[in-house]
Amino acid sequence: MSSSYVYEVGPINYFNLDDHERNAVLAAFAAALQQLSSAIVFRVKLDTMSVVVGSDLYNVSYRRYFIEGNQPLDAFLAAMGMQEKYVRLIDVPGYAISANLSKYVALDHGDIAKAYTITGVASDLDVAFLAMDRGEGSIIDMTDEVRVRIEPMRRDESKSTMRLHADTLLAKLHLVEIGGGTDRELALEAGMAEEAARQVISGSQKLFRVSCVFILKEKNLDALRKKANAFWDTVMGVVTELDSPKGIQHIMVSGKGPLSLRGANLLMPTDGILAFFPFAGLDLIEHNGVFLGTNVQTKGPIIYDLYNKSNAHMVVVGKTGAGKSMLLKSWISRMAITYPDLAFMVFDSIKESEYAKGADGTHDHSFAGLTGAKVVRFNPSESMGLDPLRLFSRKQAASLLARMAQIGQDEKDLRSELTKIVQSDSAISIHDVYAAQMSETLRLRIDANLKPLDFMFEGEPQRPYTRTIFVLDDLPDDEEMRGSAVVLASALAMLALKSLPIPQKKILLIDEAWAFLATDDRGRLYFSEAMDIVSEMARTARHFNIALVLATQYGKDLMSGQGKTVLESCATKVLLHQDPAGQGGGSDLAAQLFGLSEQERAFVERADPGFGIMITEQGRVPFYNQLTPMEHSYFTTKPEEVGQQQQPEVTFTLPSHEDL
Ligand SMILES: Nc1ncnc2c1ncn2[C@@H]1O[C@H](COP(=O)(O)OP(=O)(O)OP(=O)(O)O)[C@@H](O)[C@H]1O
Ligand SMILES: [Mg+2]
Repeated sequence: MSSSYVYEVGPINYFNLDDHERNAVLAAFAAALQQLSSAIVFRVKLDTMSVVVGSDLYNVSYRRYFIEGNQPLDAFLAAMGMQEKYVRLIDVPGYAISANLSKYVALDHGDIAKAYTITGVASDLDVAFLAMDRGEGSIIDMTDEVRVRIEPMRRDESKSTMRLHADTLLAKLHLVEIGGGTDRELALEAGMAEEAARQVISGSQKLFRVSCVFILKEKNLDALRKKANAFWDTVMGVVTELDSPKGIQHIMVSGKGPLSLRGANLLMPTDGILAFFPFAGLDLIEHNGVFLGTNVQTKGPIIYDLYNKSNAHMVVVGKTGAGKSMLLKSWISRMAITYPDLAFMVFDSIKESEYAKGADGTHDHSFAGLTGAKVVRFNPSESMGLDPLRLFSRKQAASLLARMAQIGQDEKDLRSELTKIVQSDSAISIHDVYAAQMSETLRLRIDANLKPLDFMFEGEPQRPYTRTIFVLDDLPDDEEMRGSAVVLASALAMLALKSLPIPQKKILLIDEAWAFLATDDRGRLYFSEAMDIVSEMARTARHFNIALVLATQYGKDLMSGQGKTVLESCATKVLLHQDPAGQGGGSDLAAQLFGLSEQERAFVERADPGFGIMITEQGRVPFYNQLTPMEHSYFTTKPEEVGQQQQPEVTFTLPSHEDL
């Protein structure tokens, strides 16, 4: 078919939606078909692209979707809900045939191809059966191309066809009954035909000619035979009749030649055609994005541009060990390669450094080594200039100092004394606080608990490097203390990032963000001082091209108050493994927070490390964060995995030298 209108379309989300959402997608497809006035052809083609993963280049396969017709299809595409998700092309890449052999064709580059067409289907074909994964991939996954041609029949023609079909079945049934017999099957079929005829005649359904052609392609005949056998078994388990006619393979493969030879035609009403809905799920393949692993549904790569969203903020939720830190390390290190001027401030683990130190204990084989980041340690031998009176409002500074001086919430007198001092006009810096008149009890607390931390407050703020990792290991091993340090330094980090040129991409990453999100049982932020920072970040960071990236184990942290604000401020969310009744809400809460379908929830419950669901403005996508062997050994916290060439189930092929 020499189509004059060819479009490449983005895939439509389907299998990872809940029933309600799926029905809406199908209703749109049906509506688009109802208004179709001439033939269209869907083509789902395998293609490959090179992607940069870390510092390696991989060839990955993905599917491209084309729709072509003899008339403009903009209205059809709009009815399908694809506004702005398609581009018009001059042509679809086709097959260059060098020899036509009876049962297959030889292609220009030495590959061989074989075409099949569906010649009969059962009436109970599953919706989207072509894209449905039955455990070993979908029918589409086995092919090089699937071509579904849908041609609306003229109204008068369809009416008479349907009438004739129903009448024929009725007549057959009569014959059986006259002979004194019954045929339940036939009766059922006749009933359905009668109903279908009524719907077509009333116009609530249309009648179409549908042809579905599969093209298998392999490097040699042996491989093709093997594939053809497996393909035949799979497809025959789904449809009732399949054929690969001899002698016309060149016509079927190229799609050029008499219409009647390009593939067998089936007659179907609108409802029946929904079975041929060719999309499994969304692909996220964005220009200027970075590789984020494979799409579990479409098997394509996920290439995602965090900055090309209404904001660049992101939150990652997952149980301990689910792969949050691995995801963030690989994501950001890949961004650091793709965007050479990327600036980032990273707050390392509260427990023990894992960004500045690899699993083998070295700096070189770590996130910091890989990205060329400088390490800033909270070390008593170095003053850091993080004076709370300079970085925070007086109220927040007083609260933070009270916490660091270990003055409890219930020690009201001490708190108000300290607050008064901090808020007085004469207090410009922390030293003015020390110098102020105060009670003996307060003096004791300050001397015992604040003075040893003086190195943090003293001196001029260090000018952070454009890629900085703050390491907390030298601080006393106390969550509250380390949390306070993160809060303090994040204010500085934010100022530093804001001082960089606006177009430059920037990240503020707080792995283990509990200090920013965790609330007490009354829903108040545990670190009220963090409030300023997070809300300010959520509000203004996007004007500075800053991505605020937070990770937490607990969905509960995102349910209310501050956490809810954070969740609502993030255009990108990632959900990794959660247990059914896990701590902090588990998968129940996650399903509620992210509006997951039952399948998605089950997926999250059984997800291995690195598997999860991306929740984006375009839709939700299940993924696996495929790591290169180097990334794995640099980013794991398990020393036994260092140097091990872990190859999880999704594998890539390295391009040959000619490709490079
Ligand atoms: N994409 C992945 N592929 C293979 N293994 C992975 C992947 N991501 C994580 N893992 C494995 O899981 C381990 C834990 O991952 P990670 O440290 O990222 O978990 P986490 O969610 O940050 O946990 P915590 O909340 O305790 O910090 C890794 O050391 C590694 O062994
Ligand atoms: Mg972690």
